[in-house]
Amino acid sequence: MADLRVNICGVELKNPIIPASGTFGFGREFDEIYDISCLGAVATKGLTLKPRAGNPTPRIAESRGVILNAVGLQNPGVEHFIEHDLAWLRAKTKVIANVAGATLSDYEAICARLDGLVDFIELNISCPNVKCGGMAFGIRPQDVKEVTHVSKRALRKTPLIVKLSPNVESIAMNAQAAEAGGADCISLINTLTGLAVDIERRRPVLANNTGGVSGAGIKPIAVRMVYEASRAVGIPVIGMGGITCAEDALEFMMAGAAAVQVGTQNFTDALACAKIAEGLGAWCDAHGVERVSELTGTLKMNREGA
Ligand SMILES: Cc1cc2nc3c(=O)[nH]c(=O)nc-3n(C[C@H](O)[C@H](O)[C@H](O)COP(=O)(O)O)c2cc1C
Repeated sequence: MADLRVNICGVELKNPIIPASGTFGFGREFDEIYDISCLGAVATKGLTLKPRAGNPTPRIAESRGVILNAVGLQNPGVEHFIEHDLAWLRAKTKVIANVAGATLSDYEAICARLDGLVDFIELNISCPNVKCGGMAFGIRPQDVKEVTHVSKRALRKTPLIVKLSPNVESIAMNAQAAEAGGADCISLINTLTGLAVDIERRRPVLANNTGGVSGAGIKPIAVRMVYEASRAVGIPVIGMGGITCAEDALEFMMAGAAAVQVGTQNFTDALACAKIAEGLGAWCDAHGVERVSELTGTLKMNREGA
């Protein structure tokens, strides 16, 4: 059997398959269907300092090959997570706490609160904030660097993953900005901004008007961005965006990802992550790959500069 272990920032995962933030809750509902200890790690729903009710409904819209969501970071707040879910989840597998805030001090405070309690902190920097005039921290490289720096300053023990938005001018520059700010790892991509129209009502389907696009249809964009980002930095990269099967996960790994996250596919098939982890092992065995980690970054382009 192939060795599926991967080491990210000194933390060993039993395999590189991780459910993506916002698509797996805190793991409890999925653990009723299968034992989630078979997963490399779990990325939690985005946590904020205080509980949030999220956006008005409808906040999910289906489209061909993708969905749009504008959930608006509904979550029970970091204290509830620490009290009710953390110990249970850590007994199952490694925990990536996905966190968000509206100000730099929110990010600093939530990182300080979780330092040493979780295996990784993943910064969601795609939320609108006051300082950037309603723009997300994740758009301009100087903002990416600053939010990373402030968050990293609050951490003594837990490695910091910065999750990059694809709605940017240059993913390579933003990856470098995260690294310069002190990120230990980057993950990408978060959702692409989209709009779905209800043609009978001539109105947006989502109450929020726009939403984040995710699912199978975004995969080629995500693979390209993972390739570009991983070439631009020296820190590990976690890839995601549209993964539905082991072969998709392999594309991301070859493009430069040390591990991958699976999001929207969890809604289509609750067993998706478990099946992908198993499929990865089977593919490695069939292809004589002894260690899955050997595959990271092995993609060779047909022509340079393309
Ligand atoms: C319903 C929903 C909620 C999400 N919530 C979060 C979140 O709280 N924090 C975050 O960083 N990403 C969130 N995401 C983005 C996913 O983690 C992931 O980056 C994106 O969906 C692309 O992966 P996929 O195509 O496999 O779903 C959410 C995605 C969906 C579909």
